[in-house]
Amino acid sequence: MAMLQPVLPFLLLLLLPAASASGRPGGRRTMVFILAGQSNMSGRGGATNGTWDGVVPSECAPSPRILRLSPALRWEEAREPLHDGIDVGNTVGIGPGMPFAHAVLAACGSKAGGADVHLGLVPCAQGGTPIANWSRGTELYDRMVTRARAALAESSATGGGELAALLWYQGEADTMRRDDAERYQGRMEALVRDVRCDLGQPDLLVIQVGIATAQYNGKFLDRVREAQKAVRLPNVKYVDAMGLPIASDHTHLTTQAQIQLGNMLGKSYIETL
Ligand SMILES: *[C@@H]1O[C@H](CO)[C@@H](O)[C@H](O)[C@H]1NC(C)=O
Ligand SMILES: *[C@@H]1O[C@H](CO)[C@@H](O)[C@H](O)[C@H]1NC(C)=O
Ligand SMILES: *[C@@H]1O[C@H](CO)[C@@H](O)[C@H](O)[C@H]1NC(C)=O
Repeated sequence: MAMLQPVLPFLLLLLLPAASASGRPGGRRTMVFILAGQSNMSGRGGATNGTWDGVVPSECAPSPRILRLSPALRWEEAREPLHDGIDVGNTVGIGPGMPFAHAVLAACGSKAGGADVHLGLVPCAQGGTPIANWSRGTELYDRMVTRARAALAESSATGGGELAALLWYQGEADTMRRDDAERYQGRMEALVRDVRCDLGQPDLLVIQVGIATAQYNGKFLDRVREAQKAVRLPNVKYVDAMGLPIASDHTHLTTQAQIQLGNMLGKSYIETL
């Protein structure tokens, strides 16, 4: 018995890397997605008059396979509103995250290498923020990187996980000043490079949503859209929100539009597999 003691941990060490690479049978493999940007990423579906109406269509329903990283950095079963406790100071509602997760799960199946596939959503969006609020060293940037790292650490404790993509829907707040609009492309490229570097994933997929209207009737919508399309880094995809239905507040996507957007983002992600 005494002789077995040093051997057993050694054997386990030999077994562990192989097991986690293929997914431990009965364990779970978490595909982690960062959700960042401003209010439309956070979600205002059903919440445009100061209270959320609580309506959750089936495309946004909870599932034991869809997790969210809580404000306290723990995985929990995801529920609308996904950005509750994250997009602080705003009334949050339905966003694209849950329909996106359902679309990806439907396409990817629920098993991989013997492990149960889970989707881990890491909500980080904050309403009304220009891209300058997201540059490296800002509060929002640090919160995003901290949350993404915590998500990966939490995943490895439960079987393994990988960072699958950053979903980015932001830019409306940069349509008001010419200077912001002109600097958008450079700031976006810097953001992508910095996030990839700080998360140690130089090829991290980024899917950005092309904005459809300006905040406060900003004059530089086209300028920002051109800047978004001009981002020429590898592995940056683009999905266009132009034409999606806007709520009666004339400022936010409706729940139905968010479902459409979630499906578009899901399709865009699935194409990369
Ligand atoms: C507005 O708020 C009320 C609750 O005060 C809610 O019942 C209603 O559905 C909301 N309307 C919209 C369009 O969000
Ligand atoms: C955005 O940046 C401005 C100017 O630096 C700052 O005052 C504001 O607090 C920032 N907002 C957020 C949400 O980080
Ligand atoms: C939300 O998205 C809609 C559709 O793209 C857009 O019209 C609106 O300006 C956006 N709102 C904000 C506050 O960014």
